[in-house]
Amino acid sequence: MKIHSAQFLTSATNLRDCPPGDLPEFAMIGRSNVGKSSLINMLAARRNLARVSSTPGKTRLLNFFDITTAASAPASKWRLVDLPGYGYAKVAQEQRADFNEAVADYIERRETLLCVFVLIDSRLEPQRIDIDFIQWLGERDMPHALILTKTDKQSPTATRAKVDRLKQALLAWRAELPPIFLTSSETKSGRPDLLRFIEQTLT
Ligand code: GTP
Ligand code: MG
Repeated sequence: MKIHSAQFLTSATNLRDCPPGDLPEFAMIGRSNVGKSSLINMLAARRNLARVSSTPGKTRLLNFFDITTAASAPASKWRLVDLPGYGYAKVAQEQRADFNEAVADYIERRETLLCVFVLIDSRLEPQRIDIDFIQWLGERDMPHALILTKTDKQSPTATRAKVDRLKQALLAWRAELPPIFLTSSETKSGRPDLLRFIEQTLT
């Protein structure tokens, strides 16, 4: 799937503010600074489409991006949605999945939302807040996939070890694993796999 154009559409502070749900959507969520905005730029092959920052908590709104591709009809137009990061707070709060109410509303009620991508830093041991959030999605039967980010920052062996531990943590409470993708926005690794997954989900 080749991206023809990628354009910022609008920002929303809550579900009511969201643009009309007239295109299929894929949303990026995960802890602050995990690389959501960078991944959107990587997928869209646009340097500054979504705002990237080393200061956590940069994305505070729901940001919608319209994508058009060279694919045939059902997969030719869709949206990427950059959601505010969760868990950007003091250590005390880190234990709970305290994400934005607008985000919860959006995920639970947006009918055109096809899949939530949960981004996880590939260098970290499984974090309670991520596991809780994935569980929350599972309880709502919301289709989701996991994206391990920043794999360029460590060896493939180290990444594989983290993937194994994440799988173990998930299998402790569910029988099936969601799709898991390994990515780097620096090297663009994982991009073809993700675009293929998006295309398959659209068709
Ligand atoms: P918030 O909007 O604050 O929640 O952050 P975010 O999840 O959108 O993260 P963002 O894309 O802004 O990236 C945070 C920092 O990580 C930036 O300094 C990026 O350059 C860096 N970064 C993101 N992805 C990668 C990656 O794949 N590899 C490397 N080396 N750095 C990355
Ligand atoms: Mg961001």
